Amino acid sequence: MMKTKLLQNTNEDLKIAAELLQNGELVAFPTETVYGLGADARQEDSVRSIFAAKGRPADNPLIVHISDMGMLDGIVTEVPEIAERLAKAFWPGPLTMVLPKCDAIPEVTSGGLDTVGVRMPSHPAALSLIRMSGCPIAAPSANRSGSPSPTTAKHVMDDMDGRIAAVIDGGLCDVGVESTVICFDDDETIHILRPGLISAEDLEPFAAHVYVDEAVYTQIAADAKVASPGMKYRHYAPHAKIIPVDAPDHAAFAAFVQSQKQEGIFCLLFDSDPEIAGIPCMRYGDSGREQAHFLFLRFRELDEAGAQTVYVRMPKKSGTDLSVYNRLMRAAGFEVITL
Ligand code: TXA
Ligand code: MG
Repeated sequence: MMKTKLLQNTNEDLKIAAELLQNGELVAFPTETVYGLGADARQEDSVRSIFAAKGRPADNPLIVHISDMGMLDGIVTEVPEIAERLAKAFWPGPLTMVLPKCDAIPEVTSGGLDTVGVRMPSHPAALSLIRMSGCPIAAPSANRSGSPSPTTAKHVMDDMDGRIAAVIDGGLCDVGVESTVICFDDDETIHILRPGLISAEDLEPFAAHVYVDEAVYTQIAADAKVASPGMKYRHYAPHAKIIPVDAPDHAAFAAFVQSQKQEGIFCLLFDSDPEIAGIPCMRYGDSGREQAHFLFLRFRELDEAGAQTVYVRMPKKSGTDLSVYNRLMRAAGFEVITL
């Protein structure tokens, strides 16, 4: 065990963090989506220690974070025109593009693939850290593998204290779910591997075809060959059992929950839903944007409150809401109760 430093989002502390990264240490940092667990993407041993600290399967590739377009040179062999247009529109921001990897990025970083996911985060602390260190930063979400992604520095500490060199505290993350991950099947086709704040609808003006991978909606077998290895792992789950309930309205949902007899029942409701007599409730917003912001935070709060079974009002499947639907379904192992 090592002592994990809690750093602040100040120039002085960012400099300490940048030096730690240069020296091959692991530093967790805020991004606009969730906290990342960073290492210099070019240092094999450092990247290997990310997998060890998280308990992450070695075939699940990492995203490489950059602070300017010039850094792409040392990471990818080619930037197609469509990627350039998307970068102009959405970077810095929560969009990850999978592109052909160059040799400077070792295979541990890309999980053995010949492609690499790249994104330019918009959180000022993340951008400063990349600039000050001069490193392309490989960073998965800074949770232990399988837990909900962290949206505060405290969540990171809860999971990683003693396992990493430092955490930079940048407050609560704005977006709350991880970036939209895309690849290009050809020059005119955007393939969404993981939904995020930037939705299929947002991407449509940029390509003739935009489609969402099947694995976003359905359970993928552990030994299946998939476009994005991260999609096959159970993910994002609190200790409590998460059960999404597809109900026609709040009244039907409430009647169903009240008929359940287990210990430790909780509900996760929309903000506009009324209380349910006799059942403790938490809320996670009404719009997809709000639900994305609150979902992982509520997962952790439900565990702290001692919830054992959580019945959740189902988000929509369109726009940003699809990112919430996907995280919830994965936490639930894709099992839903339909009323
Ligand atoms: O918002 C985010 O993306 C956060 C912050 C820290 O940037 N990072 C994050 O990383 O969520 P992680 O490792 O938890 O998720 C990365 C996802 C995984 O599902 C992985 O399989 C996919 O991106 N991915 C990464 N590189 C890929 C590649 N070369 N091909 C296909 N999928 C890739
Ligand atoms: Mg993750």
